[in-house]
Amino acid sequence: MADQAPIGVFDSGVGGLSVLGEIRRLLPNESLLYVADSAHVPYGEKTPAFIRERSTAIAEFLLGQGAKALVLACNTATAAAVAELRERYPQLPIIGMEPAVKPAAAATRSGVVGVLATTGTLKSAKFAALLDRFASDVRVITQPCPGLVERIEAGELNGAATRELLRGWVEPLLAEGCDTLILGCTHYPFIKPLLRELVPESVSLIDTGAAVARHLQRVLGERAQLAAGPALAARFWSSGAQSELAAVLPLLWGDKKNVEAFVG
Ligand code: DGL
Repeated sequence: MADQAPIGVFDSGVGGLSVLGEIRRLLPNESLLYVADSAHVPYGEKTPAFIRERSTAIAEFLLGQGAKALVLACNTATAAAVAELRERYPQLPIIGMEPAVKPAAAATRSGVVGVLATTGTLKSAKFAALLDRFASDVRVITQPCPGLVERIEAGELNGAATRELLRGWVEPLLAEGCDTLILGCTHYPFIKPLLRELVPESVSLIDTGAAVARHLQRVLGERAQLAAGPALAARFWSSGAQSELAAVLPLLWGDKKNVEAFVG
């Protein structure tokens, strides 16, 4: 049995494209729908109630487009809204994401792990529970990164301003002996090459996009809902300026694409 219906993916902006790319790589037969809530980026500084409201509106829209599964390609939205969405749509496969604390705790040799994420993720009860569960034997230093998402939204992946912001956050972590750095926001994999220049080779950079794609594959497989292909062309919506998302898609998605208006 195969299910040709599309997979709905969303984020506050372009960050979720790092996850969408992993899904495309692993599941090339799947048709993909992507909503960037660009009118409200960044989510990192918004209240959980606001993010829940936005996530519900986007989920409704994607289901209206026929999505067979939802991927919250955003750590901040997952922390704020995944529980409520699962309650609202109990039959629907809903995949969220969280900072990779468990693999980082297993990988660190120095016993010091750094987490780069949004203020919203780091302040959430879900993140506190994650630390309680998996980080009792390691020291975890959290570092919010206000302003970084905005630079990535603008496609400034390796400019001097982005570099200086990152350096200011990363150097203190290295000074504390951190050898494992969690990229706890889906925007950050796009600045991995720049981060690599700022940290020694011995420091591991861990993100979760590929693991989320594998989890999605497993969940759809168990339900006999994987597509047999061929996939339809991916579709993109933005709640903000369509031209802005269209301008960064060649850089972040590798393809020029038409962007439709998401009104909701
Ligand atoms: N990309 C998102 C995340 O993974 C949120 C970034 C933001 O809008 O603050 O947390």
